[in-house]
Amino acid sequence: MRFVIKKAVIPTAGLGTRFLPATKAQPKEMLPIFDKPAIQYIIEEAVDAGIEDIVLVTGRGKQAIENHFDKSFELEYYLKKRGYKKLLDTVEQVAKMVDIFYVRQKQPLGLGHAVYCARSAIGSEPFAVFLADDLIYNVKSSGIEQLKKVYSEFPGVVFGVVEVPGDQVSNYGIIKGKSLGGNVFRVEDLVEKPSRREAPSNLGIIGRYILTPDVLSALGTVKSGKNGEIQLTDAIKAVCREKPVYAVKLEGKRYDTGDKLGYMKASIEYALRDKEVGRKLRDYLRRL
Ligand code: UTP
Repeated sequence: MRFVIKKAVIPTAGLGTRFLPATKAQPKEMLPIFDKPAIQYIIEEAVDAGIEDIVLVTGRGKQAIENHFDKSFELEYYLKKRGYKKLLDTVEQVAKMVDIFYVRQKQPLGLGHAVYCARSAIGSEPFAVFLADDLIYNVKSSGIEQLKKVYSEFPGVVFGVVEVPGDQVSNYGIIKGKSLGGNVFRVEDLVEKPSRREAPSNLGIIGRYILTPDVLSALGTVKSGKNGEIQLTDAIKAVCREKPVYAVKLEGKRYDTGDKLGYMKASIEYALRDKEVGRKLRDYLRRL
């Protein structure tokens, strides 16, 4: 049976070690990509795709995320008093966007464990998972829209992949898949962070998923895997032995904003696309 995807989980309880010291006291999801925190782009993508409820998995030191999506009476009062209408609308809009439920992951035991922490809020229907580190820029069809399109034809677990250079396969979950034509693959196996020699392909999983409740059940039984963490890839691997699982090679420009270089590329390119700042920044960069 096919369901409309209405709920999404966004895990944000990781420690962000690749971005220290910036992330020592500040969630990496709140680092701005040009003029918005990374997590806001992700929530906007979810809302635009018809997601109605978001379960945000948070951890220690992540209160700034809750504050960002909350109403800010003092700020709104000040902006109104000063007549800053446009800014007021922007600030109010952020708090109104969507219903967000917060679940705490008490220890960062891995991405799979973070998703498992959201199980009571998700219930028994398929749901989306977004990783706030992965920004996909595509004006025609967002990452989640591309997955939903495939899901409507192939209901089941569907997730996004991109081609990764050989020297980077060990940073990703890598799939072994059979092409079904176009950008879609039937997944036969998955390996979390393989060496270059062990990698069954160069297709690495990135942070957009449509998952079924089977994955939540599998997460309840999988043992900790690579790096001693409960891996989402291991649970999907268990499901793929019994039910069809699909991967979609996502179209668009993808940025890994949890990595310093990826973050800089995203910040610069999002700023270059901005109407007010873009041209001036381009001139500046040319003169550097
Ligand atoms: P990452 O693998 O990017 O880990 O997690 P991280 O801790 O955030 O960052 P680095 O690698 O140490 O720099 C992918 C996503 O899963 C979440 C993270 O917040 C991130 O959005 N996550 C990871 C959790 O919510 N809990 C965990 O235990 C691990």
